[in-house]
Parts: sequence; C-alpha cells; structure tokens
Amino acid sequence: MTTSFSSLTLPDDYKKNIVEMKRAMRAQIGDIAGLFRQVCDKIETEIAAAREEEKRNGSAWPEISYADLAAGKVSPQQIAQIKRRGCLVVRQTFSRESALEMDRSMLNYLDENHFDEVYRGPGDNFFGSLEASRPEIYPIYWSKAQMSARQSEQMAATQSFLNRLWHFQQAGGSWFNPDVNIIYPDRIRRRPPGTTSKGLGAHTDSGALERWLLPAYQKVFRKIFTNRFAEYDPWDAAYRPEVNEYDVANTTKCSAFRTFQGWTALSDMLSGQGLLHVVPVPEAMAYVLLRPLLDDVPEDELCGVAPGRVLPVSEKWHPHLIAGLCSIPAVQAGDSVWWHCDVIHSVAPVENQQGWGNVMYIPAAPMCEKNLAYAHSVRNALEKGASPADFPQEDYEQAWANRFQLSDLNINGRRALGMEEN
Ligand SMILES: [Fe+2]
Repeated sequence: MTTSFSSLTLPDDYKKNIVEMKRAMRAQIGDIAGLFRQVCDKIETEIAAAREEEKRNGSAWPEISYADLAAGKVSPQQIAQIKRRGCLVVRQTFSRESALEMDRSMLNYLDENHFDEVYRGPGDNFFGSLEASRPEIYPIYWSKAQMSARQSEQMAATQSFLNRLWHFQQAGGSWFNPDVNIIYPDRIRRRPPGTTSKGLGAHTDSGALERWLLPAYQKVFRKIFTNRFAEYDPWDAAYRPEVNEYDVANTTKCSAFRTFQGWTALSDMLSGQGLLHVVPVPEAMAYVLLRPLLDDVPEDELCGVAPGRVLPVSEKWHPHLIAGLCSIPAVQAGDSVWWHCDVIHSVAPVENQQGWGNVMYIPAAPMCEKNLAYAHSVRNALEKGASPADFPQEDYEQAWANRFQLSDLNINGRRALGMEEN
C-alpha cells in the first residue's frame, strides 16, 4: 500500500515565474482589458440577479431537502439554478435531533479529553493574509461524531448528487468516480453564544499561486486564458484532479481534489449571526485570475497572493466581488451547506452572537488516483489518531479516549479509505 502522494516544491524564484507568466498570458489573451470587461459584465449581471433572488426568497442560495435528493426528485430547473449559483443548502441531511446528538457527543469527546487544558493555540498561519481574525477552528479530526457523519449513507448520497453536477467525462478522460468519495478529514468550528468575532475575510481554497503558475491549472482555465470566456464551464472536471498544491512548511494545504467544500451544521444558526457568505457566481474565478494582469498591479504580484496562504479577495483589488457576497439563510442543525471549489467565501463578523455556531467541515472529494493516494495517508493517520497530512501535525488525539477506530469503519468508510474494491 502506498502512503505517499504528490508533493510539489515552490520555486525559490516564484516571483520571476509570475513576471514571465504575465508576459505569456498577455500575449496569449491579447485584449486583456476587453476580456476583463466581458467577465465583469457577466458577474455584475449575475450578482444583480442573485440580489433579486435574495429579496424574493430571503436568500440567493438554492435549497433542496435531503428527502428530495435521496428520492431523485430534484428537478432540472433546480439543478440549473444550483449550477448557476455554485452553492447549495441541503436541508436536514441529518435530522435535527441526530445532529444535536452529534454536537453533544463532540462536546463530551472534547471535555473528557480536556481539550481546553491541552490546546496550544493555532498550529499554522494559513489565514494570516486575510484582514480578519482566525475563525474558531479546533484541530480535531477523529471524533465518533465526525467519522459517523463522514461514512453515513446521507453523506454518500449528497456527495454523489453534488459530484454529478460536474462533467466528469470530458476532454478524453474519466476524471473521477462520482459515486465513491474519500474521507477528507477536516476540522470543526465551535462558536458559543456571546461570541464577538471578526469573522474571516473573503477567499478561495484549493490553491492560490497554483491557479496561475501550474500547467494543470492553466489547462483547467484554458478557456479563460485563451480569451474564450463565453465557452468557459466551471463544471468541466477536465484536468482538475491533476492539480497539486505547493508544499510550504507548517501550513495547511489540500492534497485532494474537492468538487465542493462544505460543512454540516451541528447547531441552529440565526440570520445575521456571523454566517457564511459566498459570491454566488462560479465564473467569478475568471475575475480573480484576470485581475492581476491589469496594468495597476505590480508585475511580480498577484493581488495579495502569498505562498502557503489562502487566495485573498479584497475590496482593494476585487470590489465587484466583495459587493456580491451573499449570506446563507438561517440553518438548522443537520442542514449541510456546500460551495463549488472555486467559489469565493467569507464569514461575516458578529458581535455578541445569538445562539451557537457549530459545524463539521466535510467536503465532497470523489475517488480518483490523486484522492486515493491521499486516502491511504488518511487511513494511517486514523489508525494512529494523528493529524491528517494536510494539516499542522498537532496530533492532539493520539492518546484520547473514545476516538473513532479503524474497526468502527462501515463499508462506506472502508471504501472511502481505499480499503475495499470500489
Ligand atoms: Fe475557505
């Protein structure tokens, strides 16, 4: 069994690579200003439409019920709207009661293992390039609550539905298996009532510098980088699983391909209480990619992008996008919330938060060669109770009581970790 997966070293002279990339892109695209205007027009039109939907429905986020999803009753119109907005709330993926039970069991797990006393503070500075403070993230991966959700039927059905929004057989390849997902262990967020938080500035996950410099990402975005924006389809999976991220010491990265980033609510969350926002336009990535090619950005810079940090989206460089941030609706415990891997997101600030704000991050990471390699490393981390390879090696849970064990895996879980034939 292999335990290694791709690693990619950041070139020392990456600034020189940025200058060269810009020169080549400008030559390839031709009329950058014209292309940027075209992208802006599309995004402004979509943001205006999303604001109308917000007025009409209370939120621009499409919503479906898990019951409809499981019964195959999501209509083609709903699917078109989900793809247009790049985000989705799946109501009652788990029943409210079972999600509240997961929350209680998570709290017990933290308490019985004295997390508050042993916690040493943040293990990385991944969000350090953003304006706001860190979110209230706990580097805990192996609770029974998290693992039972990750290997549940509900999660498998939801992830399969989401993966199938993509064109996974494109450009001569079969890019992933939409119906099997690896377990991608991520952390939890817990935010008690009364919290005052600056939230988290707007950003995208899954690579920053990489989105410009890597040949695989240049292929993903080939329609943008060759001035054919009208043909660009954010749901085309071609080359996406070939992308890797640079290794930068002591930070967080993602070695898996995720079709969607997501979380599952473990508490009810009220409107206006520091909720997640997105720019509900998956094509907005074209704006982010083209913006640094305009003349007002220093030749060796990419609008605030730095190695080992998330890709920041700011008022200074991306005012149209900041103006488009739309909140999720109020959610109940058990609802799951999903956004396309290119979608810009932020967490709003809150003062004296009403109610809890607890979530488990569980994305959709469909089976492909790259994800299988990472799944093998996840299996080993689970066995030891260690932090997964993509995260700082804090390893809080190694000696913890009541940790989820390999022997607790069901058939979904074993498949998800590459321990069964698919
Ligand atoms: Fe993020």
